[in-house]
Amino acid sequence: MDSITNLLLSSFLCSILVGSTTAVKTISTTQSVKDGDTIVSIGGSFAHGFFSPGSSKNRYVGIWYNKISNDSRTFVWVANRETPVTDSSGVLMVTQQAIFVLLNSTESIIWSSNLTKPGKNPVAELLDSGNFVLRNADDDNPENYLWQSFDYPTDTFLPAQGDYTYSLDSHGFPQYFLRKDTVKVFRSGLWNGVRFSGMPTISSNPIYNFTFVLNQNETYFNYDLLNSSVVTRMVMNQDGVLRRMKWIEGSSTSWVEHLTTEMTNCNTFAFCGPYGLCTVNNSPECSCLQRFGPKFPKDWVPDTENSRFNVSMTLKECETMFLKNSSCMAYANSDVSGEGSGRLLWFDELVDIRVIENGQDLYQNGCL
Ligand SMILES: *[C@@H]1O[C@H](CO)[C@@H](O)[C@H](O)[C@H]1NC(C)=O
Ligand SMILES: *[C@@H]1O[C@H](CO)[C@@H](O)[C@H](O)[C@H]1NC(C)=O
Ligand SMILES: *[C@@H]1O[C@H](CO)[C@@H](O)[C@H](O)[C@H]1NC(C)=O
Ligand SMILES: *[C@@H]1O[C@H](CO)[C@@H](O)[C@H](O)[C@H]1NC(C)=O
Ligand SMILES: *[C@@H]1O[C@H](CO)[C@@H](O)[C@H](O)[C@H]1NC(C)=O
Ligand SMILES: *[C@@H]1O[C@H](CO)[C@@H](O)[C@H](O)[C@H]1NC(C)=O
Ligand SMILES: *[C@@H]1O[C@H](CO)[C@@H](O)[C@H](O)[C@H]1NC(C)=O
Ligand SMILES: *[C@@H]1O[C@H](CO)[C@@H](O)[C@H](O)[C@H]1NC(C)=O
Repeated sequence: MDSITNLLLSSFLCSILVGSTTAVKTISTTQSVKDGDTIVSIGGSFAHGFFSPGSSKNRYVGIWYNKISNDSRTFVWVANRETPVTDSSGVLMVTQQAIFVLLNSTESIIWSSNLTKPGKNPVAELLDSGNFVLRNADDDNPENYLWQSFDYPTDTFLPAQGDYTYSLDSHGFPQYFLRKDTVKVFRSGLWNGVRFSGMPTISSNPIYNFTFVLNQNETYFNYDLLNSSVVTRMVMNQDGVLRRMKWIEGSSTSWVEHLTTEMTNCNTFAFCGPYGLCTVNNSPECSCLQRFGPKFPKDWVPDTENSRFNVSMTLKECETMFLKNSSCMAYANSDVSGEGSGRLLWFDELVDIRVIENGQDLYQNGCL
């Protein structure tokens, strides 16, 4: 930390202040953002700066929608949620090592971003997508960002520091889990090539499209707006409910709910226990899997945490691997788009299996 502090102090002394409410393209290591300065993204969609929520006197660094009236200012990201600056002396800077640091008046580091890749000549920029990025000055290839706020989401779209987190889990086939502290309460289900199997309400719509990227380098879910004049955000509240909201500009401008996570008992993680099967409209919802039953149980997909996947395997190869391994419990297509491709094998207990309309087939012992 000492060398960082020394470096900080030297760049602090020769810093040039950005000046209030400017659409600056980038912030370099010789500049700083002080409380009162506002940075606006090039297209004018988002603004970045210091703020105090409600009647609080604490100061936070965050990003908000720039086109929404200041009375309804809506934040999409906050840097120092846990460590506010207690007065208006905060200064945000970029170091040579490509780290953001937030200093108070006595030059103590209040918050800093995590070092990811070493940079040379790093600059910060607020993109029109709301992503606050650090990159090398001469490199604006998105793949090469040194750091980006999209990797550290707060309450909007992805995890927050709070009781609940919604995050991508890469054990087995990647899927999203909503956890209360460490307890799993909801599972998105796996991406089946079209959508998340456990979230049938997220389907094609006129506002946004979405995709899931899974390759050897990265795994993420992404959505794109189909109409750039629509303002929408996905937020998780303090009770763990995910909502997609849409901004309606009009006589009574407000955020209206476009979609919420359907919450039934079957959405509760492992509600029916191991080898249980949950069916929303059945009473009771739970029934048992017939492990060696004569039929192919239709339309359910268990938790993939204890699974292995191989997107280039054929069904025949999957079956062979399945038969060879006695701890293997089931297998299925990992991608149901088109004729179906990719294979997924489950090991150990099968949990969180649901019957869903337009779901997918799961193959078990006895079904072969
Ligand atoms: C919000 O307030 C700032 C500073 O007073 C002003 O520059 C900006 O235009 C306002 N934004 C909106 C959308 O009214
Ligand atoms: C700056 O932060 C440090 C560490 O949190 C704290 O000890 C110090 O009192 C703060 N200075 C002011 C002026 O708030
Ligand atoms: C930053 O790095 C520290 C130490 O490796 C880690 O504990 C922390 O979770 C990281 N923070 C984020 C936001 O990833
Ligand atoms: C979603 O829409 C964007 C913008 O129109 C387009 O570039 C992208 O290819 C679409 N993605 C998918 C998965 O359809
Ligand atoms: C993964 O990263 C490597 C090295 O940067 C690159 O060569 C490869 O094409 C990437 N693969 C994918 C699927 O993006
Ligand atoms: C885009 O959205 C705006 C605002 O809701 C609407 O007025 C406009 O008609 C939409 N454009 C298209 C092509 O759907
Ligand atoms: C995936 O399956 C293909 C086809 O059987 C095989 O060549 C490849 O080695 C497998 N990949 C892994 C990581 O097991
Ligand atoms: C069965 O699969 C599990 C999980 O991949 C593996 O640990 C085990 O070695 C396999 N057993 C055999 C006999 O291949």
